[in-house]
Amino acid sequence: MLQKIRKAVIPTAGYGTRFLPATKATPKEMLPIVDKPTIQYIVEEALASGIEEILIISGHAKRAIEDHFDSAPALEMELERKGKESLLQMVRETAAIKIHYIRQREMKGLGDAILCAKAFMGGEPFAVLLGDDVVYNEPGRPALRQLMDVYEATGSSVLGCQTVPQEKVSSYGIVDGVATDDARMLKVLDMVEKPSIEEAPSQMAVLGRYVITPQIFSILENTLPGKGGEIQLTDALRVLAHREPVYAYDFEGTRYDVGDKLGFLKATVEYALRRPDMGAAFQDYLQELLAEED
Ligand code: UTP
Repeated sequence: MLQKIRKAVIPTAGYGTRFLPATKATPKEMLPIVDKPTIQYIVEEALASGIEEILIISGHAKRAIEDHFDSAPALEMELERKGKESLLQMVRETAAIKIHYIRQREMKGLGDAILCAKAFMGGEPFAVLLGDDVVYNEPGRPALRQLMDVYEATGSSVLGCQTVPQEKVSSYGIVDGVATDDARMLKVLDMVEKPSIEEAPSQMAVLGRYVITPQIFSILENTLPGKGGEIQLTDALRVLAHREPVYAYDFEGTRYDVGDKLGFLKATVEYALRRPDMGAAFQDYLQELLAEED
């Protein structure tokens, strides 16, 4: 019988150099979109998709992530004393999420970070969510859930993808694949890292969501450092795709590249506009600002 996807790994051990100086002492995963750290959006997507256990791969200067998901007795007492019930509930709900942590000792690359999850996964297929890609969906069908549905239908690994404009293919890992009965899905033949427009086999870009079978671990153990001297998850996934079926699925949702400053600003503005408590006021402000510029 097909094993259910119950566990997810969220790697956060990278340096976040694109966001310096903010990330010198603060993990980029703690940068807030409006008032919630990006890591919490990712964790909430995992839980809403049906994930039961989460492992965060942490590294240098990432203590703040553990503190964020821990209880905060002094803060809770203060909020209780002041009668700030809704804030108290919010703080308690965050601390109630059960998260496990393991440190990646040396930053040897994303592939090595995923390999740190081997014992935790205990031979089960699992999900991977990268914090750089925040995906907005109406409640009901989070991006990861869409991939889990494909896994349940095929029993195979699934790479979360979206179609990107041709001029953007050189920023992503691009899938070389064959069409399937499902227009949103390709069967992966190969992957090309950051190809030129001429070299790109498709416009399906691999983004930060995956469902992977445990066979990946023995492949990662034998994956040598690749691009940038790092052990690359992409290299191991290419080997996996040569050994067993791997699918690329074009998931629905508005995706923001929050590892990039402009992408982060777009996410901040759009999430603020969607907020019932401030969206209208923020929209008025933006309109005034634009009118002043005319
Ligand atoms: P990135 O390549 O985006 O690196 O890693 P980064 O350090 O986070 O950010 P920039 O590019 O320097 O600004 C992709 C994902 O893999 C994790 C990162 O935390 C990120 O979630 N990662 C990367 C690790 O956990 N360990 C590593 O050794 C490398």
